[in-house]
Amino acid sequence: MNQPAESPDELLMRQAIELAAEGQGRVEPNPMVGCVLARDGEVIGEGFHKQHGGPHAEIEALRSLGSVSATGATAYVSLEPCCHYGKTPPCTDSLIESGVKRVVLAMKDPFPKVSGGGIEQLRRAGIEVVCDVLRDQAADLNAPYLKRVNTGKPWVIAKWAMSVDGKIATHTGESQWITNEESRLDVHLTRSRVDGILTGMGTVRTDNPMLTARLPTEFGKPPRIAQRIILCSSSVPDASTQLMESARSIPVQIIAGAKIRDKDLRASKDLGATCTQVRESGSSDLITAALRQLGKQSMTNILLEAGGNLLGGFADAGEIDEYHVYIGPIRLGNQHAPGPLGGVGIDKIRDAPRLQLHRTDCFGEDVKIVYRKSAEGNNR
Ligand SMILES: NC(=O)c1ccc[n+]([C@@H]2O[C@H](COP(=O)([O-])OP(=O)(O)OC[C@H]3O[C@@H](n4cnc5c(N)ncnc54)[C@H](OP(=O)(O)O)[C@@H]3O)[C@@H](O)[C@H]2O)c1
Repeated sequence: MNQPAESPDELLMRQAIELAAEGQGRVEPNPMVGCVLARDGEVIGEGFHKQHGGPHAEIEALRSLGSVSATGATAYVSLEPCCHYGKTPPCTDSLIESGVKRVVLAMKDPFPKVSGGGIEQLRRAGIEVVCDVLRDQAADLNAPYLKRVNTGKPWVIAKWAMSVDGKIATHTGESQWITNEESRLDVHLTRSRVDGILTGMGTVRTDNPMLTARLPTEFGKPPRIAQRIILCSSSVPDASTQLMESARSIPVQIIAGAKIRDKDLRASKDLGATCTQVRESGSSDLITAALRQLGKQSMTNILLEAGGNLLGGFADAGEIDEYHVYIGPIRLGNQHAPGPLGGVGIDKIRDAPRLQLHRTDCFGEDVKIVYRKSAEGNNR
């Protein structure tokens, strides 16, 4: 069936949302925001929030006008403009001063210092404000930001590579490599835009990973350097692991449950890791407490790269928001070869959480499937 044609406001808002996405990996913990300025449907300026601490999208768009006046124009903004002094002055003031007569917004900003205040200020200044144009698309783009503001916890992306028959390693524990170089480059690109890459001790012991974003030079400088995070319930990585050997130059954070001894934490600190101890020790409680800690550290996106035990623990706790499933064209067989999710799991199909298909990509003969937690019904 054909999609209904987009209205002129929707077309220009789509441009603003596409611009916003260009800030991904550079603006967090801020939201990604884009702004298009148009007069009589013609674009006269545009901008997006490029860097955390830098000018907001509205300011970038107004600056792009040069000597052209914004008087009487419409501003399309993918998120409600801020109305408070943060790292930069309020965008509402600049929009009011610019003389725009209409502001079209995709969505309200739930950030407590804004939360409708921006809309109110613009309306008080006599500007017509239209809300919720392409709201779902804008919310989809900023889902990690919205989750952090609403729950205090970062967005969790669980990633795994598996064979066609759903195994993440052979029955002997070998998992390198199930997918091809292109798929692995895609993982490195994701690593280069998240705040943290989280794993468990099983993966540390078996794979001794570095968990860094290694990009070919043509990709330039990665947008951010993720912390390597190990969730430890009963043991910590020893000094000879690649993670600890590199902890002084690339950040490592140990999140330790209640059972980890002070002496082990001191040893990890001496090797250059930061250590955060939480009081919880039960699987789900430990995971949720760890995420709250990472949220307090202003982390927006966490990439979970672990084996079945920790991935299953996150699934049981209902703490996976997005799934990046890479399928390589091999079969591994054997009842005892591990699948991606251990944990307690689900008894009845009817109780299984329904996921939403977000996108699919092909890398040579590999397939990447991105699912997200469904916003409706049983979404554990
Ligand atoms: N194909 C892939 O994409 C992929 C990716 C990663 C790993 N792997 C494979 O997965 C295998 C390792 O998997 P694994 O399941 O043994 O290890 P894992 O899931 O990486 O780590 C499990 C360990 O994490 C710690 N942990 C802390 N909190 C936990 C919680 N709430 N729930 C569960 N675990 C928690 C525990 O160690 P302590 O009690 O010692 O703290 C636990 O033993 C290896 O064969 C590796 O090659 C495959």
